Amino acid sequence: MATKLLLEHINVPGIETYEVYRSKGGYRAVEKALKTMSPDDVMEEVKKSGLRGRGGAGFPTGMKWSFLDRKSNNPRYLVCNADESEPGTFKDRYLMEKNPHILIEGLIVSSYSLGSNSTYIYIRGEYKWIVGILEKAIAEAKNAGFLGKNILGSGFDLEIYVNNGGGAYICGEETALIESLEGKRGNPRIKPPFPAISGLYNCPTVVNNVETLATVTPIINMGGDEYAKLGIGKSTGTKLISACGHLNRPGVYEIDLGLPVDEFLNSDEYCGGIRKGHELKAVIAGGSSVPILPAELFMRNAAGEARLMSYESLSDGGFATGTMLGSGGFIAMDETTCIVHNTWTLARFYHHESCGQCSPCREGTGWMEKVLHRLEFGHGHMHDIDLLVEIASKIEGNTICPLGDAAAWPVAAAIRHFRDEFEYHVTHASLVKDSRKAHLP
Ligand code: NAI
Ligand code: SF4
Repeated sequence: MATKLLLEHINVPGIETYEVYRSKGGYRAVEKALKTMSPDDVMEEVKKSGLRGRGGAGFPTGMKWSFLDRKSNNPRYLVCNADESEPGTFKDRYLMEKNPHILIEGLIVSSYSLGSNSTYIYIRGEYKWIVGILEKAIAEAKNAGFLGKNILGSGFDLEIYVNNGGGAYICGEETALIESLEGKRGNPRIKPPFPAISGLYNCPTVVNNVETLATVTPIINMGGDEYAKLGIGKSTGTKLISACGHLNRPGVYEIDLGLPVDEFLNSDEYCGGIRKGHELKAVIAGGSSVPILPAELFMRNAAGEARLMSYESLSDGGFATGTMLGSGGFIAMDETTCIVHNTWTLARFYHHESCGQCSPCREGTGWMEKVLHRLEFGHGHMHDIDLLVEIASKIEGNTICPLGDAAAWPVAAAIRHFRDEFEYHVTHASLVKDSRKAHLP
């Protein structure tokens, strides 16, 4: 039976209200932390839990918190990254919409541990309707004495502010987010210095994803050691996965890390298999920025060993056979999917979203989009395929922020694993042209 920590009460009517959330044991973690634990005790529990960043990078949360410059005389800030924009990823939206208090509670406990008296939720522009949900939950928590001055007599003060972004994907990158929060254009900064040393208004700042911060609530309730017993190896705990594509049961699921991929795909508890009469062809396992892989690389090997939903298992084999758990945006594609079309669509997205600061990304994403457009619409040449690989290799590792890699990897992986489809678009150009006429932009 799957463990439910974040989604345990998700279908309880009224759980978005303070009264119902409280009646289900809500705000116990705040009481426990502020009345019985020191800020360092809270950080110790988070470290023991093995929690890793749920936004995509999987960086150990406790370690990130320990990097925060506590010697600085400047204020410290916690910023919640709710700029969920990765194609295929919609788990934070679901959590904030349905159970905002679990996030607010996690924010209070985390702010207490980090010494942040002003905490910000930076939410993507397109999630406008959730701003009201969060602000209502913040007002309710304040009314109940969990926010404001001297919370529960602990001497700790906290205000939480919600900031609505302008709709740029790049503002999910933590330093671009910080720039945007400061009222500037959302251009990523060069790291180091990391935000832990110099972040918001050049003050020590921790930026964590919505799911990461919400997970601090059950960690404090159950204790870090108990949490670490869930999951597998260094992939401890549970993870929200947003599953979409050609599935019978798309949706947001909470899984124990280490769940076999084939079980996640086929069990009726989760995705319920591929739509009737069709077969799985390819999967993007962790949001569009991670390499696409053919279906067989997610299936059991000859010895019956399964590929697991974990940070380690999904990346097994490096670039040859590996991908990443990433943000948990699981996109399943059946045999009706054209990989060339899919790759072109993603390339358009990254070109559009590039902030334009560094040449390899600004120019490279544009070239990749143009070359893929040629191939997709039947005007390509065989050498275009290698040209794409070359452009991707020139972008990878040569940019200020990971958007460059995120644009390069899907193209390189699609060609590595589905080269025959790119070649088909060249050898059957007139057929492709005819079939694409209706879609020409
Ligand atoms: P990263 O690996 O550069 O950093 C991870 C975190 O650890 C950052 O907060 C960074 O400040 C911190 N960190 C790393 N080394 C540090 C050090 N020495 N000292 C202090 N702090 C340190 O990855 P990044 O750029 O934060 O995230 C990239 C990931 O984001 C991608 O893997 C992708 O999956 C994901 N992503 C998620 C999206 C979403 O909508 N959820 C959108 C786009 C990308
Ligand atoms: Fe901007 Fe792209 Fe450079 Fe990131 S990699 S800073 S998005 S140009």
